[in-house]
Amino acid sequence: MAGPAFRAAAVRVRVPATSANLGPGFDALGLSLGLYDDVVVRVADSGLHIDIAGEGSDNLPRDEKHLLVRSMRAAFDALGGQPRGLEIVCANRIPHGRGLGSSSAAICAGIVAARAVTIGGEHRLDDDALLELATEIEGHPDNVAACLLGGFTLAWMEGGVGRAVRSEPSDSIVPVVFVPGKPVLTETARGLLPRNVPHVDAAANAGRAALLVEALTRRPELLMPATEDRLHQEYRAPAMPESAALVERLRADGIPAVISGAGPTVLALASEETAQKVEMSAGEGWAANRLGLDLSGASVLPLAAAA
Ligand code: HSE
Repeated sequence: MAGPAFRAAAVRVRVPATSANLGPGFDALGLSLGLYDDVVVRVADSGLHIDIAGEGSDNLPRDEKHLLVRSMRAAFDALGGQPRGLEIVCANRIPHGRGLGSSSAAICAGIVAARAVTIGGEHRLDDDALLELATEIEGHPDNVAACLLGGFTLAWMEGGVGRAVRSEPSDSIVPVVFVPGKPVLTETARGLLPRNVPHVDAAANAGRAALLVEALTRRPELLMPATEDRLHQEYRAPAMPESAALVERLRADGIPAVISGAGPTVLALASEETAQKVEMSAGEGWAANRLGLDLSGASVLPLAAAA
């Protein structure tokens, strides 16, 4: 295939925060949240120029090491060739290292933007290939699936590649997140997981994960039993004791709460009726952030759209 041609105009890509696992759906389930990073990318004559505002603006690299740039490079390779230069402007709002899918957002923003600035990009890299590539870079498919597809996603690995299906979450669900001040590295949280788990725990999680699909889409009244987990949250609690205690406190009050992704953010799946109770139950030291559900996933927007 001949190398690609690129658009002269800039493109804007918006990518959502995501919450993975949702209790029992370790490395499989994901929910897309209404909190976004925006990236504007323009193909230039030469060089690489990156501007970053917001989250990570004080410590992210402005060169080829940036995850977004590495993801763009991998996507351009898959698309058939690299542009001569790139100008990138990032407006970051998703907190880093908190279990809200910031690395997946960077990866998805990079590959969606690379495809969008490539003429005929959709034919060279279709949506399935996009998910495969994002999963390969991230290492597991749950956050990238939710980030690309929006809504509620079920992801799995098949023959070494990431696959996913999307469902519509019940519109009565109101996600409320509690974001601790300090990050926990996903690597650290994954390092706390045992190599083997009791069969009884695996069986319990399989049942609850299946129930969660029904609870999140059609019967939110089942969210309490459906969000019970035995495979990761307890093992990870030593790395995020305050978050583990908050999950316990909220659940004792009848609020379906889980550790978001690898933590330490706590996600409560509230409703309009319970959202206020969630805020009250959290107690001192915790700020509740009520978010919307994102239904669109990663989107290429008109340049005029507000950042
Ligand atoms: N499923 C992943 C984990 C999400 O819990 O480790 C974090 O990237």
